[in-house]
Amino acid sequence: MNRRNFFKVVAGTGALVAVSPFILNQRLFADDGSLYQAYEKVQLVDAAGNPIKASALKKEVNYVFNYPHVSTPCILLNLPKATERDVTLKSEEGQSYVWKGGLGKDKSIVAYSAICSHQLAHPTPEDSFLQYVPTSGKTMAYKSGGVIVCSSHLSAFDAGSGSKRVAGPAAQPLASIVIEIAADDTIWASGVLGPDKFHDYFTAYKPELKQFYGGRKAAKEVVKFTAKTVTLSEYSKQIIQY
Ligand code: FES
Repeated sequence: MNRRNFFKVVAGTGALVAVSPFILNQRLFADDGSLYQAYEKVQLVDAAGNPIKASALKKEVNYVFNYPHVSTPCILLNLPKATERDVTLKSEEGQSYVWKGGLGKDKSIVAYSAICSHQLAHPTPEDSFLQYVPTSGKTMAYKSGGVIVCSSHLSAFDAGSGSKRVAGPAAQPLASIVIEIAADDTIWASGVLGPDKFHDYFTAYKPELKQFYGGRKAAKEVVKFTAKTVTLSEYSKQIIQY
């Protein structure tokens, strides 16, 4: 078996199994398995519990769901055009990984961890400093819209190329959320690709995690079965964007 073409994931039994990239068609994965972490496979649903359909996602709207932990926010986007494909990205430690590209009929649906790779700004129920700015929008962080902006210190990430950093102090991309679109148009999250900041986040935000989730232990619980997905303006009372 060519080690580069297969990687191991934890199956439902807890056993490690090798998965062929062929089976993973329409998913995003690192070609050598590095910086990939499988989590519970969960379905994205709306606030009423109904499945979110990929074809119903509005273009350039920030949707937010918490994954893979009950307190870790992610952004789901339907970009205005097809993304780049097979983008090689690097963590701040220099590890490379390959982001395969957007999904859906227009190859434009992407999902990223919404915890900034610089100093962890993220959407909370109170406010959000990190969001996608539509192509027609303006930001001080970059020459144009069409990017994810963290207004905490003005980092910008290219949503159409795996959230590659294009401006500001962030030293690496946002982690990518591995999503799948099923034949019935439903959307599923199943893992994280790229360098995540979950450990730092759980350490840095103890009071916040207590306030919103009842404590750090509860905040670390992994999401199971479904992930409620709402617009950013439903998720956060206030959106701050420069
Ligand atoms: S925390 Fe996002 S740019 Fe500093």
